[in-house]
Amino acid sequence: MEKISEFMGKDHRRLDGLLKEFNMVVKSDMQRSKPLFHKFRAGLQRHIAWEEEVLFPVFESHTGMFSDGPTSIMRMEHHIIRELLGKIHLKIAAGQGNITELGGKLKAVLEGHDKKEEMVLYPWFDRENTLTEEERADLFKDIGNMPPERYNS
Ligand SMILES: [Fe+2]
Ligand SMILES: [Fe+2]
Repeated sequence: MEKISEFMGKDHRRLDGLLKEFNMVVKSDMQRSKPLFHKFRAGLQRHIAWEEEVLFPVFESHTGMFSDGPTSIMRMEHHIIRELLGKIHLKIAAGQGNITELGGKLKAVLEGHDKKEEMVLYPWFDRENTLTEEERADLFKDIGNMPPERYNS
């Protein structure tokens, strides 16, 4: 079975690539940047839904760490990320390409956020003494079954 840290890390990389491509073309090519942003936004919202609705609750219930643990910080950062996504979305919808500052901010927040998840949070799911194989398989099942209306907006 694939490791959670591998699966989620791969998705971070895929999203990084989309954001990089978007940041590169947004000033000069609105035609190309629009669909790129939509793909990135939908993908990031899906990724966050996997974390908040599948992974974090399992971590929290097993460790007993709710508001005092890493997931509360991650949720707070997701809030900031969603706000930035919303702001960029409005600009793009209005055909305004001057989002260099917002795009840079989003990139910076994501860098620190993803690193913390990859170093602190995801490895917990792959440790031998945390979950059973069955519980781990259930995580992948729940991730695969996430209904699109939970992240497509
Ligand atoms: Fe996250
Ligand atoms: Fe993540």
